[in-house]
Amino acid sequence: MRKLRWGILGAAGIARKQLIPAIRQSELCEFTAVASRDFAKASAYARDNGLPKAYGSYEELLADPDIDVIYNPLPNHLHVEWTSKAVEAGKHVLCEKPLALKVSDVEELIKLRDNTGVRIGEAYVVFHQPRLQSLKALLDSGDIGRLESAHGIFTTSNHDPRNIRNLYQDGGGSLWDIGVYPITVGRWMFGEEPSSVACVMELDPEFKVDHHTNGILRFPSGGQMGFTCGMRFPQHTAMTFLTPTHRVEIDRPFQSGPNPQDFVVYDGVNPPQGKTHSFGIVNQYQLQCEAFCRSIVDGVPFVGSLEQALASTKVLVALFKAASSGRFESV
Ligand SMILES: NC(=O)c1ccc[n+]([C@@H]2O[C@H](COP(=O)([O-])OP(=O)(O)OC[C@H]3O[C@@H](n4cnc5c(N)ncnc54)[C@H](OP(=O)(O)O)[C@@H]3O)[C@@H](O)[C@H]2O)c1
Repeated sequence: MRKLRWGILGAAGIARKQLIPAIRQSELCEFTAVASRDFAKASAYARDNGLPKAYGSYEELLADPDIDVIYNPLPNHLHVEWTSKAVEAGKHVLCEKPLALKVSDVEELIKLRDNTGVRIGEAYVVFHQPRLQSLKALLDSGDIGRLESAHGIFTTSNHDPRNIRNLYQDGGGSLWDIGVYPITVGRWMFGEEPSSVACVMELDPEFKVDHHTNGILRFPSGGQMGFTCGMRFPQHTAMTFLTPTHRVEIDRPFQSGPNPQDFVVYDGVNPPQGKTHSFGIVNQYQLQCEAFCRSIVDGVPFVGSLEQALASTKVLVALFKAASSGRFESV
């Protein structure tokens, strides 16, 4: 099978830092083109990252018949518009998270997918981590009891006025950018969607995007999860899961390397005894791109489906509503 050829919309940092190096060794896919709003920028990016083709407009990339897959890492407010245009040009699209800022936009993309038959995926890279897949299997097995409570945190420091995360009109703020990770992993581990959510959000006075947010998700089974995200704190990521008998701790749960890939399961005795579950270092970005290629070539389901994106967007929109109403809001 020939490798699927991917093109990038925008000279994005995430593609340069993570995806391009990740799939350099892949037998299933390769990046062959980048498009920028500025041809000189596209050319320099292509040269620096070993990409054969550069385009000075996004439209030219979509018109290239040699491109099979479009990777869309544009600012959040442009995800739906350019994913739709790429689909209309006959391309499969892997779009960065969050795919959409409105529920109706995901519903429109589902209609477009069903009418065209192309693949559209949302790039929640954590779904591809063997460590988290193993934790999900452990929780589902019932061996450590029923998951009842969880907390996740993702904080960072970002005061750059030019960064897309500080631009309100671009879908900036910590909830859309990084709070989405503990929420996504929590929903996955509970195996159900929250029925209601509450949220407290503090906006940065200059940028008007949330720089400190805490939320609660209540699940139909009775489970509860809390999360913290922010952009005015030291970098920190962690998750804790509680059953009546056990506690699971994961340090840096949203990264696949170079940090150790493990989680620790503590029993309920005093002092608690911990058992470390260790996994080999993988590149979750490579696994994600290859899973998307397999979904195109073999038709196997892609975990970052539009149905998952729809459920995720409903939760996020409800969290914003709850932050503004000060009450629990149904999802
Ligand atoms: N999965 C992950 O681990 C991960 C990590 C980081 C970011 N992300 C996601 O990836 C996306 C991009 O993040 P990033 O950090 O790579 O951003 P970035 O470096 O700022 O890249 C975004 C690109 O979008 C293009 N663009 C088009 N219209 C723009 C506008 N009005 N303002 C700014 N840029 C514009 C620019 O390309 P041209 O100027 O070349 O046209 C720019 O290079 C976001 O959705 C983010 O949530 C995901």
